[in-house]
Amino acid sequence: MLRICVCVSGGGTNLQAIMDAIDNGSITNTQIVRVISNNKGAHALERAKSKGIDAIAVSPKDYDSRELFNSAFLSAVDAVSPDLVVLAGFLVVLPPEMIRKYEGRIINIHPSLIPSFCGKGYYGLKVHEAALARGVKVTGATVHYVDEGTDTGPIICQKAVEVLEGDTPEILQRRVMEQAEWVILPQAIDEIARRHQ
Ligand code: GRF
Repeated sequence: MLRICVCVSGGGTNLQAIMDAIDNGSITNTQIVRVISNNKGAHALERAKSKGIDAIAVSPKDYDSRELFNSAFLSAVDAVSPDLVVLAGFLVVLPPEMIRKYEGRIINIHPSLIPSFCGKGYYGLKVHEAALARGVKVTGATVHYVDEGTDTGPIICQKAVEVLEGDTPEILQRRVMEQAEWVILPQAIDEIARRHQ
């Protein structure tokens, strides 16, 4: 059984896609052992709790320094001994010690076709605003391993999505989530789960 810890910051639609995929069997051999959010008000936490999944908030606001937050966050992850950490709409920089400790075992979903529209400052709607400003005809989403950089780790899978005439950032974000993010993140987890002893 692949034990996964899912890190979230907001609405949790990617988390919901993972939970639904586990329920309908398109993700095999996997258990969500904890959901952690940096944001106490994240709807993602409610989504997890409604399924009886351990869900906690570890907020930088509750710590006097980034170092103290990093230590508390890493302890909250270590406590459930995950085989894989999944960043699903997670907007906080991971502790460097955690990236080293879980090297090759942290994945992230990014709402563009990396290497386009990624790196510092490219998150959420900003990604789609940049894609529309550049005038690309195709965008999409990427699942990649997390390394010390921002959106720079090895790519696991990608899915393209058409940009349509009249798209706003909000419309495009929704299409990328529905047609790409919610498809390839569960797929990536299932591929890792099938390889897991
Ligand atoms: C999505 O655009 C996702 O790609 C980005 O955060 C946004 C919200 O994700 N990483 P979620 O609904 O909280 O999963």
